[in-house]
Amino acid sequence: MHTDTIVVTGGAGFIGSNFVNAWVKLKLGKLVNLDKLTYAGNMENLAEISHDPDHVFIHADIGDRVAVKSLLETHKPRAVLNFAAESHVDRSIHGPDAFIQTNVVGTFNLLEEVRAYWPALPVESQQSFRFLHVSTDEVYGSLEPNDPAFKETNPYQPNSPYSASKAASDHLVRAYHHTYGLPTLTTNCSNNYGPYHFPEKLIPLVIHNALSGKPLPIYGNGSNIRDWLYVEDHCNAIREVLAKGLPGETYNIGGWNEKTNLDVVHTLCDILDQEQPKAQGSYRDQITFVKDRPGHDLRYAIDASKIEQTLGWKPQETFETGIRKTVRWYLEHTQWVARVTSGEYQHWLSTNYHERGEELA
Ligand code: NAD
Ligand code: TYD
Repeated sequence: MHTDTIVVTGGAGFIGSNFVNAWVKLKLGKLVNLDKLTYAGNMENLAEISHDPDHVFIHADIGDRVAVKSLLETHKPRAVLNFAAESHVDRSIHGPDAFIQTNVVGTFNLLEEVRAYWPALPVESQQSFRFLHVSTDEVYGSLEPNDPAFKETNPYQPNSPYSASKAASDHLVRAYHHTYGLPTLTTNCSNNYGPYHFPEKLIPLVIHNALSGKPLPIYGNGSNIRDWLYVEDHCNAIREVLAKGLPGETYNIGGWNEKTNLDVVHTLCDILDQEQPKAQGSYRDQITFVKDRPGHDLRYAIDASKIEQTLGWKPQETFETGIRKTVRWYLEHTQWVARVTSGEYQHWLSTNYHERGEELA
């Protein structure tokens, strides 16, 4: 038994759909995509490959042991890649339950089913099998301005319910390798941006609000720093880790693009001023400073030397090229934005921004 099939969880979300679209278009083999379709999952993200026989979609929860077991038995994948998660820090502050359920309990259930599936494979398939867990740099906590960037050896110091739940899932993955020998790989990536990014996160929210004439809300004074990576570069890195990563290892992935939030928002406004100028003034005029996020991490920065040196991966996009592509994508996909910002999204805006003194809904 040896199939080319891989299973991806969370493949209807932002990063997952970029990964799935690229995989299918590159004709890398059959891909079974399991997604619960929460508010963040959207079949429209997969429209370009909806008729491709190499893409099989299964609507299920990663914590549904029966569905996962049946999927593994039916499709006999050579790898399982776990993108599925609750992913938004502010939502984790308002309601941590779903984060524990999906990111911790869900990952545990998924691991349990993979642990039952993997040893029953023929020896060769067992050796080549991989469980790749997609995680975040936020598990390392927050850096001071002059601290060196996060290395894989940094201790875990998660600060939000989101990062704590991701840290817990990373620990489970580590333990399943150490205890059961499961051939796992973990990737810890910095903040992504690009097509299909749900407009609850900073970059797509600012683009959408700018074009809608609404305030551009900056938490605190805008001096918090994130390290930004174009989503396609992240997907390339995951393919490299899957192909060449060593079982049991973790790989930091980042773009060497540290920016303050204020810099990011200024850049977005300046690009929009060029691409779609307002009748009067600049989009910068819409910037407004709002109440800070509780426990707001000051700075994230990734040291990506390990993946660069051992696997030969490097990002293709600079922040300047990637962010311009992203703005253009949003300008060309106004229908996608209109559809994802109707319904539940409006409720989220009033939950998150009303208490900050802004009415964005
Ligand atoms: P997202 O919120 O856009 O998408 C998550 C997807 O998972 C959605 O399609 C959703 O329907 C699905 N999902 C949620 N709960 C599920 C469950 N219980 N069972 C099955 N499917 C479920 O998230 P994203 O930004 O694409 O992030 C993907 C992964 O990458 C996450 O694990 C996240 O922690 C990690 N990550 C994200 C970033 C980032 O900047 N967005 C950076 C580093 C790592
Ligand atoms: P976000 O995109 O939510 O990603 P994360 O919290 O996982 O890094 O936020 C990126 C940064 O932007 C973070 O420092 C919080 C800040 N931010 C704002 O200033 N205003 C906003 O409306 C949002 C959503 C985020």
